[in-house]
Amino acid sequence: MNEGQKAAVGYALGLVATAAQVGYSLWIGPQPKAEQPAPSLAVWLANQLGFWALAWLTATLACTPLRHWTGAKWPALWRKRLGLTAFALACLHVTVWLVGEKRADLAAVGADFAEKPWLVFGLMTFLVLVTLAATTPTVVVKRLGGVRWRQVHRLIYPAGLLAILHYALREDADAQHWIGFALLISLLLWARRYPPATKTSR
Ligand code: HEM
Repeated sequence: MNEGQKAAVGYALGLVATAAQVGYSLWIGPQPKAEQPAPSLAVWLANQLGFWALAWLTATLACTPLRHWTGAKWPALWRKRLGLTAFALACLHVTVWLVGEKRADLAAVGADFAEKPWLVFGLMTFLVLVTLAATTPTVVVKRLGGVRWRQVHRLIYPAGLLAILHYALREDADAQHWIGFALLISLLLWARRYPPATKTSR
């Protein structure tokens, strides 16, 4: 398979994974949590898509430490595919919230941001993911040059932390979930910052 075909397969797998995520969430449908009744389909789906966007972002963050600590080449090949899947899920997450919950009503959007300051961390994470996705096509990488591209793509690390803040600062956040993500992302950031002595930095 040539590079173009490999990339096409990668994107296709990302789309299939995204569709599977949405399909699975719709299949199990809105679930009651503790004493609270089941949320609306829009809130349920927005939560599910947010959760899975963070899960795929965490998988993307694991690629470089995995490559450094195992010497395997495949994690580097999968980083772009995993990252674009996280981006696709984050786009769906924001769209379901904007259209499904806020009916694209800008006043309601503004009111929600005023009422829930943790949404700002979601917005900052999303703006980073848009920047990373926009600087992924080969033509853009060539125009940016390797050094500047690497600088831009190091933004994925603060994006992981911003997504955790977005999750953790929610009133009814599931502590087990966001603490689990926070520990995992902290471990990955440590493993990225302190690669084994033999490995050159990216
Ligand atoms: C403009 C950007 C964003 C907005 C406005 C936003 C909005 C929201 C809202 C309103 C919720 C609560 C669910 C609901 O009431 O519908 C939520 C939950 C969540 N969001 Fe976001 N979000 C944004 C970006 C992101 C991004 C980029 C990620 C991850 C990459 C993310 C990850 C999450 C997670 C993990 C949850 C919690 C899900 C759960 O409790 O299971 N969000 N977001």
